[in-house]
Amino acid sequence: TITPVLLCGGSGTRLWPLSRKSYPKQFANLLGDETLFQASARRLSGAAYAPPVVVTASDFRFIVTEQLHGVGIDPGAILIEPAGRNTAPAVLAAACHIAASDPDGLMLVAPSDHVIPDAQAFGAAVTAGVAAAQAGQLVTFGITPTQAETGYGYLELVDPPQGTTPAPLKRFVEKPDQTRAEAMLKDAHFMWNAGIFLFRASDIIAAFKTHATALLEPVSSAYAQAKADLGFLRLDPEHWARAEDISIDYAVMEKADNLSVVPFSAGWSDLGGWDAVWAETGPDANGVATSENATAIACHDTLLRSESAALEVVGIGLENTIVVAMPDAVLVADKSRAQDVKLAVAALKEKS
Ligand code: GDD
Ligand code: MG
Repeated sequence: TITPVLLCGGSGTRLWPLSRKSYPKQFANLLGDETLFQASARRLSGAAYAPPVVVTASDFRFIVTEQLHGVGIDPGAILIEPAGRNTAPAVLAAACHIAASDPDGLMLVAPSDHVIPDAQAFGAAVTAGVAAAQAGQLVTFGITPTQAETGYGYLELVDPPQGTTPAPLKRFVEKPDQTRAEAMLKDAHFMWNAGIFLFRASDIIAAFKTHATALLEPVSSAYAQAKADLGFLRLDPEHWARAEDISIDYAVMEKADNLSVVPFSAGWSDLGGWDAVWAETGPDANGVATSENATAIACHDTLLRSESAALEVVGIGLENTIVVAMPDAVLVADKSRAQDVKLAVAALKEKS
């Protein structure tokens, strides 16, 4: 079986005001009646999977247990990070946990804030990667790029992708600048990194040993001295504090030479902003997407959301606009400025 590792410590500031420091986007009901975290956990449940290992912050621990309970999933373990150190230490801590009972156990590392509508196709892609992972490869999942995105990692294939056949990678480029992103978009050898990884616990630990040596001792000590606390496993804060704050992409993936990719074309979105939510919410022929308790009159290319049954939102004659109304905060933004919502969060932080 494969052990899912659900990462859910991020803060998702570009989806303010729905995504909050105390309640980030992965735990919010963005689309449909499940949260992104619940949908991710369910996608990685069933016969092929062991109970998930969740890595999160202390503040989110009860949200995690409550939301897993809501979809009928019992966690295998919930590791609590004393402080956010990005994804490399989180993945390594999970690998230590899995390796403690099964060094060659397969782990599937998944963000908890993505949308993958076709769970079955995703399951098939994971299955397609198993043989490569068992042969010692670090398996990534590749998405065909549609724009020169600078917020993603890029996978350079030795040969352009062929259907869904796992293929070797030449290299991994994390978050390129605009010029490089544009060049990679035009070159059929490149795919986006979905941010999902499949490998044996022993192989990723070995990769850390080779490429991110300095993380190994603090993180494995933080795990070895973790304290059980009401069903949570609290990593040791003093050792953890010595771990570098770095993502797995920079720490390991950009440096490793045993990478493979499984191309995945069945639909994937990193809900990286309100424009992406608008696209995923199924805009009508006029490009209008509304939630319950929201009404659009003569609007175009607009997202109107009310996050409260007690709050009716009406837009008239809006073009290319995003409106998100929470009981205590309302966002009104030009849709083409969706990425600047993180500036609002910074500005509000300054004020408080
Ligand atoms: N537990 C824990 N602790 N989780 C974290 C932490 C942390 O300190 N930091 C981030 N995460 C979680 C986030 O909640 C998210 O689910 C996932 O890890 C990925 O982190 P992001 O911060 O969203 O990464 P990214 O979007 O900038 O980049 C990654 O994903 C892209 C695709 O969405 C990279 O892997 C890129 O290469 C990739 O293209
Ligand atoms: Mg992300």
